[in-house]
Amino acid sequence: MIKGKENSLNKQTLTPDVIVKCEYSGNRANAWDTDGVKRTSEITVGCRQKAADGNYLLGRFINKAGKTYWKKVDAGEVGFGTSNTVDHSEVNVPTDHAEILNFIHSSYSLKPKGLMMTELKWKYLIRSAVRGKNIMMTGPAGCGKTMAAKSVVNSLDRPDFYFNLGATQDPRATLIGNTHFDTKKGTFFSKSLFVEAIQTPGSVVLLDELSRAHPDAWNILMTVLDYGQRYLRLDEADGSETIKVADGVTFVATANIGNEYTSTRVMDKALMDRFTIVEMDVLTEDDENSLLTYMFPNVDSSVLGNVAKIASLTRSESNSETARITSGISTRTTVELCGLLYDGFNLQEASEVSIYPQYDNTGGVDSERTFVKQIVQKFCDDGSSDDLFNEDEMAEAEGDSAS
Ligand SMILES: Nc1ncnc2c1ncn2[C@@H]1O[C@H](COP(=O)(O)OP(=O)(O)OP(=O)(O)O)[C@@H](O)[C@H]1O
Ligand SMILES: [Mg+2]
Repeated sequence: MIKGKENSLNKQTLTPDVIVKCEYSGNRANAWDTDGVKRTSEITVGCRQKAADGNYLLGRFINKAGKTYWKKVDAGEVGFGTSNTVDHSEVNVPTDHAEILNFIHSSYSLKPKGLMMTELKWKYLIRSAVRGKNIMMTGPAGCGKTMAAKSVVNSLDRPDFYFNLGATQDPRATLIGNTHFDTKKGTFFSKSLFVEAIQTPGSVVLLDELSRAHPDAWNILMTVLDYGQRYLRLDEADGSETIKVADGVTFVATANIGNEYTSTRVMDKALMDRFTIVEMDVLTEDDENSLLTYMFPNVDSSVLGNVAKIASLTRSESNSETARITSGISTRTTVELCGLLYDGFNLQEASEVSIYPQYDNTGGVDSERTFVKQIVQKFCDDGSSDDLFNEDEMAEAEGDSAS
């Protein structure tokens, strides 16, 4: 018993193969290894922030399951002195045209492996960022908009700032600042982090969930995003103080407006016009399968294949003329579901907790939930209970996904 345990420890590493130092750039803690390679996307936000705040190094280790993880290491122990760290504060975007071309067209290597996105879309995204365009990532829920936006921000060695506008209750406080009162100083104004962000030359400012922001936020951003104006007014009153957007500041926003144009909260047309739109593609069955296989190498590949099939069937159904469901299963959901498979739940159980609650239960046998259940069911019992799902319907749905 104990021997077996020791054997299974063999793959585990006890010394780190990569060491990083975490430092703030804007409000984000970036991680740099000893060779000056940026490792930010490999480490969780919390872990990086704690390391930057606590001023300690992180090392990469491999656990029993063969997965990598990061934890605190002692500087003396690993010989990573403060003297050999590189200064990354300078803005390093090429200015020569030939260099820019080269940077854009070789940038696919900067895309994290775990992000599925076509080379063309990725290069378009990088190009827009390098050219200082306001970028808006669009697409349905859970298709990788935030992930892609964060990845592009990560790939550019520029100071960056993150704002989740969907979670903001008070747009004025977040984007402009607060007025305070102090018995000694009287009334005074404290500027927001957003003001600091737009005053930082060359910064990349991520405006996540802009489509869910309060309309006040859209109004405030209108002049900031306009290429002809580029200023923020601190007060609504005409003639009040304005703040100029510094040179080279790039805005990257995300909006949940894929095929949900019918939603009541459609973004203001004038605001949309200020952006270059980069539409995130919903993954094809093959791409979904590759992503899941990459993320979950220890889960049975045929089950992963079925998950990709289920997702793709629901997506093509939701796009068909005679759709019986309003949306397809997102990549966020397939990733969550496979996490459950990895933790020993079967496909039936995992679907029950992660997929079904997303579909409306009203209408009994005609409900969206029943429809999705039937699709899942088909893959849970290897097709042995054909009566659960009409063969013609299945063929029709599969035909749809192939077209
Ligand atoms: N194209 C993709 N490549 C890799 N992983 C993806 C992709 N799309 C979604 N995922 C997975 O789904 C999760 C959610 O993605 P993300 O937060 O980027 O979605 P989103 O489009 O911003 O969704 P929302 O509209 O709800 O904000 C990611 O953490 C990732 O695990
Ligand atoms: Mg998002």
